[in-house]
Amino acid sequence: MNGYRKALFPIHIYQANIKENEKIKSLVLNKIEKCYHKKDIPVPDGWHTDKIYTSFDLKEVNDSIFGSENILHPYYIKYISKFFDDSFKIVIHDTWFNYYVNGEYQEIHNHLTSDLFIPPSHFSCIHYLTFNPDKHEPVRFVDPIEEVRYSSLEFNSHRYSETYAPTIQEGDFFMFPSYLEHFVKKSQPTPDYPRITIALNFAVINYGDKVLVNKAHLPGYLLSYNLRLAIFLGII
Ligand SMILES: [Fe+2]
Repeated sequence: MNGYRKALFPIHIYQANIKENEKIKSLVLNKIEKCYHKKDIPVPDGWHTDKIYTSFDLKEVNDSIFGSENILHPYYIKYISKFFDDSFKIVIHDTWFNYYVNGEYQEIHNHLTSDLFIPPSHFSCIHYLTFNPDKHEPVRFVDPIEEVRYSSLEFNSHRYSETYAPTIQEGDFFMFPSYLEHFVKKSQPTPDYPRITIALNFAVINYGDKVLVNKAHLPGYLLSYNLRLAIFLGII
């Protein structure tokens, strides 16, 4: 019988295993553990989960763990470079840890922002610093056109699922478009071995000989950054 079936317009996620994971653990794990045991960080504003411990958007905390010149970025850029097929230049906006040990979870979200004070990102990454695939929950990505598919007979056919949970090993590193929604289910408590991820957002400034971000926007973003810092420091 003639005929074919073809998937159109795929969304790509990228996965690699960081072979330097043990080295990275030796650099930051103790500091993250100490930060967690202080238990002095509330759930960030705007997050719906009532149970997660994260250093998201806490520059001072993140600098104390990763350094003001983030010591992990060279490792991450090495693996990001494996995903790109041309020369590139990126700006990493944020890097933070997430600590799951006693039934933490995170609701469906993406890494875009409507906040004019935060520069936009094109890609986001998750590094599984500590992860037990037998006990910990993976990230689950969500089909961005799930609702559109409700009107199609293809919905629920060919083993379609509106979410995708990749198989994850400790040390795995994912890159995905920042618009792609994802979540983490509530895990069983794992007091002997927490699930610790490090996440980051970045914008692509150059790709090959192309400038992908309108440079005219950058001064505005830089100004926003300065304003934000000025407000934080109480200067204005
Ligand atoms: Fe996320």
